[in-house]
Amino acid sequence: MSAKSIAILGCGGMGLAIARRLGVGRRLCVADYSDEILSEAREALANDGYLVETYQVDVCDYDSVRRFAQAAASQGPVEAIIHTAGVSPSGRCARKILATNLVGTANALDAFLEVAQTGTSMVCIASMAGHMGSGLPSELEHHLATTPRGQLLDHAALDIDAADPHGPARAYGLSKRGNLLRVQASSRAWGRRGGRVNSVSPGVISTGAGRQEISGPAGKFIALSPAARVGTPQDIVNAVAFLVSPESSFITGSDILVDGGVVSSLRWDTPLRA
Ligand SMILES: NC(=O)c1ccc[n+]([C@@H]2O[C@H](COP(=O)([O-])OP(=O)(O)OC[C@H]3O[C@@H](n4cnc5c(N)ncnc54)[C@H](O)[C@@H]3O)[C@@H](O)[C@H]2O)c1
Repeated sequence: MSAKSIAILGCGGMGLAIARRLGVGRRLCVADYSDEILSEAREALANDGYLVETYQVDVCDYDSVRRFAQAAASQGPVEAIIHTAGVSPSGRCARKILATNLVGTANALDAFLEVAQTGTSMVCIASMAGHMGSGLPSELEHHLATTPRGQLLDHAALDIDAADPHGPARAYGLSKRGNLLRVQASSRAWGRRGGRVNSVSPGVISTGAGRQEISGPAGKFIALSPAARVGTPQDIVNAVAFLVSPESSFITGSDILVDGGVVSSLRWDTPLRA
């Protein structure tokens, strides 16, 4: 009998928590760039009784992601693909952020579309950063949503000067806005194969990457949010579990914002009139 598989790209704070929730009774295929993270995850998951296989994958490299997709599909249907691999803006250059978060997500969507079949559900982790600001020019949105992955970085707005101190934050916001748009634009192709694709946009979540940001600008977001707390990986797991379950079968090409209300506060932080 063929085993149903779950593929997780990126095995950091969110990826590992998602693997634990979705991997029960499934063949768990886990990928990451870091061998160290992979071997820790393999040991922890196998000790807990999961059927786990690990793959060293660089999401910036399409062939690497495609090999992972084909391996995940080699023993039976891939039920769900959760793409969590990404980098935060702190300490990274704009180019690296765009290559990993923007091109990496396009690579993952294209590579797993090839193996999608009836019932397959893919979820990409974007960010509340993709919901902030006053919007992008429609021509740039169109580029981010639909340009073939190989030419995705060929746009003047993505040519960010390495010396620009705001470059990493701008690259992060553009890449995460791009993730939401790319998922929307991909849903028709996924539907033709009987699959669905959605994104989840986290606020500040207490993972290794999230904690790095809390000491910087993200700290103020927690203070102003209606939820008045940092998010936990479980807050993201809950949304992802819903999006891969039959309860969400009418939802595709969409996004769930799981940010404790940060985006709503940034936009509407004015007292309501009686
Ligand atoms: N933690 C937060 O507060 C927060 C908020 C909003 C969005 N996000 C997004 O959520 C996703 C998951 O974040 P996390 O908090 O679990 O971060 P994390 O750093 O714990 O995990 C990310 C994983 O991606 C892997 N990775 C990085 N580059 C890669 C590459 N080129 N190929 C393959 N793997 C690669 C890393 O090795 C790491 O294990 C990211 O896309 C991040 O941008 C996080």
